Amino acid sequence: MTASLQNTIERVRLLLQERYGDRIPLALVHTYGCQQNVSDGERLKGLLALMGYGFCERPEEAELILYNTCAVRENAEDRVFGNVGALKGAKRRNPGLIIGLCGCMVQQEHIAEKLKKSYPYVDLVFGTHVLSQLPEMLLQLLGEKRRVFNLSQEDAAIPEGLPIRRDPGVKAFLPVMYGCDNFCTYCVVPYVRGRERSRKPADILAEFRELLAAGYKDITLLGQNVNSYGRGLEEEISFAGLLRLLNKEEGDFRLRFMTSHPKDATFALIDTMAQCEKVCKHFHLPVQSGSDRILREMNRRYTTADYLRLIAYARERLPGITFTTDIIVGFPGETEEDFEQTLALLKRVRYDSIFSFIYSKRVGTRAASMEDPTPPEEKSRRFQRLLEVQREIGAELLESRVGSVCRVLAEGPGRSGEGWLTGRNEDNLIVDFPGGPELVGRFVTVRIEKALSWALQGRVQE
Ligand code: 5AD
Ligand code: SF4
Repeated sequence: MTASLQNTIERVRLLLQERYGDRIPLALVHTYGCQQNVSDGERLKGLLALMGYGFCERPEEAELILYNTCAVRENAEDRVFGNVGALKGAKRRNPGLIIGLCGCMVQQEHIAEKLKKSYPYVDLVFGTHVLSQLPEMLLQLLGEKRRVFNLSQEDAAIPEGLPIRRDPGVKAFLPVMYGCDNFCTYCVVPYVRGRERSRKPADILAEFRELLAAGYKDITLLGQNVNSYGRGLEEEISFAGLLRLLNKEEGDFRLRFMTSHPKDATFALIDTMAQCEKVCKHFHLPVQSGSDRILREMNRRYTTADYLRLIAYARERLPGITFTTDIIVGFPGETEEDFEQTLALLKRVRYDSIFSFIYSKRVGTRAASMEDPTPPEEKSRRFQRLLEVQREIGAELLESRVGSVCRVLAEGPGRSGEGWLTGRNEDNLIVDFPGGPELVGRFVTVRIEKALSWALQGRVQE
């Protein structure tokens, strides 16, 4: 952290002491959307803690409410507007309450304009590139008592050495790169998060070691497109190289990563997964559609044949590897035939689970100006059909695991009831088993006895 940032933090601390006396002001930081956002939220909380804030969950207790927003789909944005609308009363009751919005949604000009005009009680709005300027913005807000809008478009250098406040537990996210250069035609991410920037391996390694020392055992490397990790760095390193570097660290831990773009996922990456014993044999590989025509329209730059070749190679090199994916239903111009090709792909690959979404039109993207004649009711019907096909496949795959043995990292009390713990196995499946608190944070071997609709149940083997 720079001396000037430290100095600003100290000045905010003093202003807060003046304002609240001995009382510790509480902040509510709520994050919407993806893991990258969760990770940003942890950095924002780290800064707030240094400035003297404590944390709370209920708006009534808060002196600062910060919504860290998502722009990927419209319903995420609607939820944020709904929740901000609901804060009007809280501001009336406590005029000193600071209401802030940050992240991907507000990085969009039309959203920032709307907030400026129609939500006068929102005090602080800042985008994805200026997260580390939070102390400076609070200083302006508290000192000069005026609204602060900071929506720099410049892809800022990745701030290293910021404090991070993670929730305690066994799982942690570790960003390795920011931004995206792919411009899939439906996606707003390249516009709101800017160009790809990779963190230096030494910085990643240092944070990784801190995580291990703090007892985290299941670490997910994050990026919009992790397979292009390393491009533009002085040091020559690929994502596979980074995996090998982290895999060498001592200790009982497991490594995951997301998200991989199929056009950049290589056989070499799969070979590396096979060689690195700490890397989970599970691949999240978003396909989006099973129709080559739609994939072209989406600018995904692979065909279903390319995709299936990757899957086949991974299955050959890593027997038992499992897959998950993302699917968009109802992309502009998607026909019944295109959609059926998606269903066929699902049946062919047999994913453990899928994350599926109805296409949502995003301002400024190329797909926003494409003809979209399919009525919303038809898209909903397709969506339901997709879920039904996947529900059957998922259930069969869970059922097929009964009798098998897997390694589970115990996380805490489970949904199965008193005396049960829950955790995840290497395939990222939820596994519940009877056990006491002494097992939490440890890897245990579990024999699977039963498949439920949402998880597996089993017993620890001695
Ligand atoms: N509409 C629907 N789903 C989208 N995604 C990204 N943009 C959109 C959009 N405009 C989905 C993709 C991506 C996941 C994170 O969100 O499937 O992989
Ligand atoms: Fe969006 Fe495509 Fe980039 Fe993923 S790879 S963030 S879907 S543009």
